[in-house]
Amino acid sequence: MLVTINGAVSDYRTSWELQASEERYRRLIQNLPTALWQVDSRRAGEAFDALKARGVRDIASYLSRTPDLVEHAKDIVRVTDVNRDAMSLFRAQNPAELIKPVRYLFAAAPGLAERVMVAHFEGRRNLIEETRIRAFDGSIIDVLFTVTYPVPPEQLDNTFITIQDISERLNAERQLRKLQADFSHAGRIATLGELATSIAHEINQPLAAIVTNGETSLRWLARTDQNIEKVTQLTSRIVTNARRASEIIHRIRSMAAKHEPEKRLLDINEIAREALLFIRHDIDSKSITLSTTFAPGLPQVLGDRIQLQQVIINLLVNSVQAIVQSGQPTRRIDIQTSVDDGGAVGFSVFDNGPGIAATDLAHVFDSFFSTKDAGIGIGLAICQSIIGAHGGSISGANRPNGGAHFHFALPVPA
Ligand SMILES: Nc1ncnc2c1ncn2[C@@H]1O[C@H](COP(=O)(O)OP(=O)(O)OP(=O)(O)O)[C@@H](O)[C@H]1O
Ligand SMILES: [Mg+2]
Repeated sequence: MLVTINGAVSDYRTSWELQASEERYRRLIQNLPTALWQVDSRRAGEAFDALKARGVRDIASYLSRTPDLVEHAKDIVRVTDVNRDAMSLFRAQNPAELIKPVRYLFAAAPGLAERVMVAHFEGRRNLIEETRIRAFDGSIIDVLFTVTYPVPPEQLDNTFITIQDISERLNAERQLRKLQADFSHAGRIATLGELATSIAHEINQPLAAIVTNGETSLRWLARTDQNIEKVTQLTSRIVTNARRASEIIHRIRSMAAKHEPEKRLLDINEIAREALLFIRHDIDSKSITLSTTFAPGLPQVLGDRIQLQQVIINLLVNSVQAIVQSGQPTRRIDIQTSVDDGGAVGFSVFDNGPGIAATDLAHVFDSFFSTKDAGIGIGLAICQSIIGAHGGSISGANRPNGGAHFHFALPVPA
C-alpha cells in the first residue's frame, strides 16, 4: 500500500472512499512530471531519537566522527515506492529495481547522504542541492535533488525525494560561458591590435635602456683604467631592464591568451593600475591629463583578472578616442574607484570628450553599434557581457557639463 494513514479515520468515510482517495493519490504520483521517490525514514527517525536521548546535539560533527553510521543508514533506510519518471531517470525497466535501500541514490553525490541526515535530524522542512546521480547504465547525470521531510503532525513515516534532470540547463550555461569567453577573447585581440603602437613603445623603453647601458659598459671595459664598480652598476641596470621587458611581454601574452575565466578575490585598484600600464603611453602621447582617485581599503571582489582589466581598457580606449575626435584643447580623463550605496565596489571613467548623442544613449551597449569610421562596436558589448557574468552592472551617461561618464559596479562576496 502506498499511503499509511495514521490516526482515526472519520466514521463517515467508508473504506471504499478511502480506497478511491488512495487510488487518486497513486495516479497523481505516478503521472507527476517529476521523478519521485517515497522513502520510509522511520528507522532513521528512531536512530535520531536515540541519539538525542543520549545528548547528541551537533549531529554534523557526530556523523563526521562516525562515518559508519551514514553507511549503515544507506542500507536500512528504504525506498518504498517510485513513479514512472524516476524509472526513466535511472534507466530502470521496472519499479522493483528502484524499491530497495536508498544507497544507489547517493552513488555519485559525495557527502550528500550525510547532509540529508543532518537536515532530517535538525528538523528542517526540506533540503535542496545541485548534485549528480549515477543511473543504472553507468551514466552520470546533473540533477536538482530535493528532499521533503515529514513534519509532525503530518504523516511521520514518509520522506519524499524528487530528482530533476538539469543537465540540459547546465550544458546551456556551460556553452554560454564558453561563448562569452570566446567573445571577450576576440575583443582582447582587437584591442591589443589597436594598442600595438603604445605597446611597442613600452617594450622599446627597457630595450633602449639595455642598449645604452651595454654600450657604456663596453666602453668602460675597453679603457685601461677599468672600473669594476661602474661596470657592475651598468650590468645590474641591464638586468633590471631586461626583467621589465619580460614582465611587459608576460602581461601582453596573458592578455592575448585564450583562457578559461578564473574567479579570484581581487583588488579593483590593483586591476585598474595594471590596466593603465597598457594604455598609459596612448594617453600621454595624446596630451591627455589623467587623474586617478583610488579609494583606499576597498573590499575585494570576485572576478577574472584579465577580463576586468579588459573592461577598464575598453572604457579608457573609448574615452581617448572620444576626446581626440572632439579636438578639445584641454583633454582630461578621471578615473575613480568607490564603494557604492548598497556596498558594491564601483569604478568610474569620466572624460571631457563630446559625450554621447541623446539618440545613441540607448544603443551604446548593443553589439556592432558604432559611430566611428574604424569602430566595430563590440567594446562596450564585451564590457557588458563581462560585468554581467560577474553579477554586476554597467551604465553610461553624459556629464552635466559635457563629456561622458561610464560606471560599473561589482558585488562584494558575502
Ligand atoms: N567615452 C565616450 N564618449 C562618447 N561616446 C562614446 C564613449 N564611449 C562609447 N561611446 C559611443 O558608444 C559607441 C560604442 O562603443 P564601443 O566601444 O562598443 O564600440 P566602438 O568603440 O565604436 O568600436 P570598438 O570598441 O569595437 O572598436 C561608440 O561608437 C561611441 O559612439
Ligand atoms: Mg570601443
